[in-house]
Amino acid sequence: MRIAVAGATGNIGALTVTALERDGHTVVRISRSLGVDLSTGDGLDHALAGVDAVIDVTNGPATGHAETVAYFGTATRNLLAAGERAGVRHHVLLSIVGIDRVEGNAHYAGKREQERLVAAGPLPWTIVPATQFHDFAAMVAGWTERDGVATIAPLLVQPIAPQDVADILAEIAAGEPQGRYADVAGPEPQDLVDMARRTNETRGHTVKLVPTWSAIFGPTMAGTVLLPGEGARIAPTTFDEWLAGQRQDHTSDPAGPGRTNSFDFR
Ligand SMILES: NC(=O)c1ccc[n+]([C@@H]2O[C@H](COP(=O)([O-])OP(=O)(O)OC[C@H]3O[C@@H](n4cnc5c(N)ncnc54)[C@H](OP(=O)(O)O)[C@@H]3O)[C@@H](O)[C@H]2O)c1
Repeated sequence: MRIAVAGATGNIGALTVTALERDGHTVVRISRSLGVDLSTGDGLDHALAGVDAVIDVTNGPATGHAETVAYFGTATRNLLAAGERAGVRHHVLLSIVGIDRVEGNAHYAGKREQERLVAAGPLPWTIVPATQFHDFAAMVAGWTERDGVATIAPLLVQPIAPQDVADILAEIAAGEPQGRYADVAGPEPQDLVDMARRTNETRGHTVKLVPTWSAIFGPTMAGTVLLPGEGARIAPTTFDEWLAGQRQDHTSDPAGPGRTNSFDFR
């Protein structure tokens, strides 16, 4: 199949491209740095010519509620409209578990807007809600780091390996549209503070972590709110297995992988 990945240069996007190619698909890469912009629509019609399925793993900038909703909304509308013109048969959106249960997080509001537009849109669709990725904890701690100190919310999560997310997206995009897919999660619940501490230690990065609720990650996300629901699809890679890979990667890149996201989403 010919499958387009919107966000192909990102954390999940790059892994998804590799997974699709491994599975024998022809991949069209979409990102602004590659000359295709979902915000303006520039290059989209050309990119989607002959494409059977689209996987949207783009991200949005860390801005306020209204700006984030507008960013995701415009990008999603442009992608869906271009997909309809091109005769795309399956639109796959990566979303996040639990976003309907959390108030006050601008990124989650943007993701809800994406979900709303895709579900009401012109293309057959699958929305894949995933839990936080294994690299999420160190990433969010890194946003607040100043002078060797970082804050991080004491969240209970059930994280998933980025590679497992990519493999599942590649599998789903090659199949029939399924509407809202089961929650997708890793095998074990984890404490986000502990995950960040262990990731930084493994990467040789010294930072003092202070567990703190914030305006973005507040008490409405406490308890089981972010955990997968009934019937979730559980991916195999444990956090410890992923950490072992970070140890190897760290030998070649002291900053460690996963610290280069083009956007964060405070
Ligand atoms: N991190 C987590 O724990 C987690 C959990 C569940 C779901 N998710 C979801 O996973 C998705 C992907 O996250 P990620 O960390 O892989 O993102 P990322 O590393 O920040 O990558 C974002 C990608 O989107 C592209 N992009 C952004 N705006 C674009 C635009 N206007 N037009 C074209 N391309 C655009 C970027 O390339 P250019 O900058 O070159 O345009 C880049 O390729 C997000 O939507 C997030 O909500 C994340």
